[in-house]
Amino acid sequence: MTSPAFPPAFLADLDRLFIWRRDVRHFRTTPLPDSVLDTLLHEACLAPSVGLSEPWRFVRVDTPARRAAIRQNFIRSNARELDGRSGEDAQRYATLKLSGMDEAPHHIAVFCDTNPAQGRGLGRASMPETTTWSAVMAIHTLWLAAAARGIGVGWVSILDPAEACSTLSITPHWQFLAYLCVGYPQEPASTPELERRGWESRNPARRRWINR
Ligand SMILES: Cc1cc2nc3c(=O)[nH]c(=O)nc-3n(C[C@H](O)[C@H](O)[C@H](O)COP(=O)(O)O)c2cc1C
Repeated sequence: MTSPAFPPAFLADLDRLFIWRRDVRHFRTTPLPDSVLDTLLHEACLAPSVGLSEPWRFVRVDTPARRAAIRQNFIRSNARELDGRSGEDAQRYATLKLSGMDEAPHHIAVFCDTNPAQGRGLGRASMPETTTWSAVMAIHTLWLAAAARGIGVGWVSILDPAEACSTLSITPHWQFLAYLCVGYPQEPASTPELERRGWESRNPARRRWINR
């Protein structure tokens, strides 16, 4: 079997995809077709994983009461973050929008099965955290698959993970990784929202190799 050749035009589009993939916090409420969500899930599951363990677990959160509980979890966690800051830092933090969960039509919680039978433990003995990294790679794959279709994903981590697991009735050995808001963005953007709001900016120094 020969591997597919990706023409230069595709590579230019791929570059644009990396540039335009955004963490989205401002959504339109229009739902996505179920078939599109299924495609995103399917593509996320093409991610690499330690020992081919595929430890990612995606949970669609549709129940209004569960969504409301997660929203309260975010409000409390965000207030705690704000309490830990002072002065101008606190003032600036308070202006940030750090979740689009009120408007996003789809909510997806992502977990890692920290002890999956699949993969038969390969590659995990010296670095058990590789299961977590594998699941995070699936999240990034989903993020890119969504961006390629003009669909926004917003990662919310300002949450109490134990409380999120309890709200979603999650089995004990699943580690909470992310709460993703998914939907069409209100506006596309080629720079991070935190950069546009003057909170932080990309650092060109990170684009250089360190040689040893
Ligand atoms: C592990 C992780 C956790 C994040 N948690 C949050 C969050 O709780 N709220 C939020 O608004 N953005 C969150 N983000 C998004 C980052 O703020 C965003 O990726 C970063 O500012 C760069 O912007 P970009 O993704 O649009 O390039 C998170 C991103 C990652 C990778």
